[in-house]
Amino acid sequence: MDKKGILLNHKSIRSFLPRIVDDSIIMKIFNAAIRASNTGNMQLYSIILSTQPKVKEDLLPLHFNQEMVKRAPLVFTFCADINRFNKWCKLRNAKPSYDNFLWFSTAVTDTILAAENAALAAENAGLGICFLGTTMYNAEEIAKVLTLPKGVVPVVTMVAGYPAKPTDELTERLPYQAVVHFERYHDYSDSDIEKYYSELEKLDKMKNFVQENNLENLAQVFTNIRYPEENNNLFSKKYLDFVKKSFRME
Ligand SMILES: Cc1cc2nc3c(=O)[nH]c(=O)nc-3n(C[C@H](O)[C@H](O)[C@H](O)COP(=O)(O)O)c2cc1C
Repeated sequence: MDKKGILLNHKSIRSFLPRIVDDSIIMKIFNAAIRASNTGNMQLYSIILSTQPKVKEDLLPLHFNQEMVKRAPLVFTFCADINRFNKWCKLRNAKPSYDNFLWFSTAVTDTILAAENAALAAENAGLGICFLGTTMYNAEEIAKVLTLPKGVVPVVTMVAGYPAKPTDELTERLPYQAVVHFERYHDYSDSDIEKYYSELEKLDKMKNFVQENNLENLAQVFTNIRYPEENNNLFSKKYLDFVKKSFRME
């Protein structure tokens, strides 16, 4: 299993060669995505692959002009989808009742599992990938560009292509002890938090983020710069409003 070490060597790639990806690789990505476990084998997701410059240009501003959307040969938008399943139920005189929060969450779970399988298949084929969470920030606008019907909500985007440069060192992680709990959840003491996060805080690149932004510490880089309160509140409301409209939840 994992002879190439794909699982332990993932690193997000954000710049790509202008090299076309063969259809046989794209098929491997699709087939890996649909092989993922999913709720009741209902596969409550759809995958939109965008390769045309015009579509990618339309998507670019909706991803806050992250250049990789334009430069990557493949842009996959993974969507939670109850539309297809509802249509099947209605055609077969079965009454669907999936327009609620439980089933949105279920569809998101299926979607994310398919997306990660796609990512692993892409990396296994020598491609680099990066996920984009900006999909949730502008989901309604992205849905318009991709002509998504009601019941189909964009969840996450993945760009993929041949990496422009060799992968450098892996991105840091918390140690497994920080995220794994045996038998029951053992809540974190202040000293646990100190222990787990101080390693991150000591890294030069993290110290630079703090200095460049004139802040006191790394946590403030997240709360004040990367994911500030006003954006969190704005985009959370925007996404929830769209999901409610699309899934007709009330
Ligand atoms: C749901 C999700 C959303 C992400 N959104 C972005 C994004 O909008 N822009 C970006 O450059 N990277 C994005 N990333 C990549 C993460 O920043 C990256 O996975 C994380 O920093 C760990 O680095 P690594 O993937 O190189 O190990 C996203 C990753 C995930 C899983």
